Amino acid sequence: MNAAPPFSIHALELGPMENFVYLIRDRASGRAAVVDPAWEVPRILDLAREQGVCITDILLTHSHHDHVNGIREVLEASDARMHLLRTEAQFWGRHLDLPTLHHGGDVIELGDTPIEILHTPGHTPGSACYRVGDRLITGDTLFVFGCGRCDLPGGDPERMFDTLRRIAEHFPRETVIHPGHNYADTPTSSLAEQLEGNPFLHFDNVRRFVDYRMHYHDRHRDTPYRPVPAGREMP
Ligand SMILES: [Fe+2]
Repeated sequence: MNAAPPFSIHALELGPMENFVYLIRDRASGRAAVVDPAWEVPRILDLAREQGVCITDILLTHSHHDHVNGIREVLEASDARMHLLRTEAQFWGRHLDLPTLHHGGDVIELGDTPIEILHTPGHTPGSACYRVGDRLITGDTLFVFGCGRCDLPGGDPERMFDTLRRIAEHFPRETVIHPGHNYADTPTSSLAEQLEGNPFLHFDNVRRFVDYRMHYHDRHRDTPYRPVPAGREMP
């Protein structure tokens, strides 16, 4: 028998870059965590109100402007604690008021819902994914049929290759991916579908991966990203 999970995840697509902001709601305690608050904070606060929850935590996948520009407004409306990886805080270099800094593998307790923070470098040095039950909130690490850029400051395609490998090997195939941007025709996908059709998960050679990520991909593919059969990434 499948018991209902102790949490639910709600997505809002906000801003000019099709960012996904997530609200993780713990049913028993009425607590909620906002992942990457940005763009239209009143809509995030309205969603929390509709769901009858109190925002107690802010989780950051990384520090890029399009994922963090609503933090101040959420903090003005709540007493939320902010969480990010220590590595990302150091990379960001911004003065933050009393954030909770984590290492990969730490678990944040949102009422009855444990949330595991994973260190997934590549897009930025301290990028994080959050595992909640059988869901994985992936920020700009893994998109549906895509992955985050590695050519911005702090980006590293070799580390992205390792990160994506670890995700592919570590998580069950039925894991549901919740990405940081709506760049495909569907907002979520299973890891099984991604292993099949996400070109970035098809490489077993780091040099070819780096070549594809840094020189080939952006010139040959556009959003919405669609599946690419294995072996058809590059000529
Ligand atoms: Fe980003």
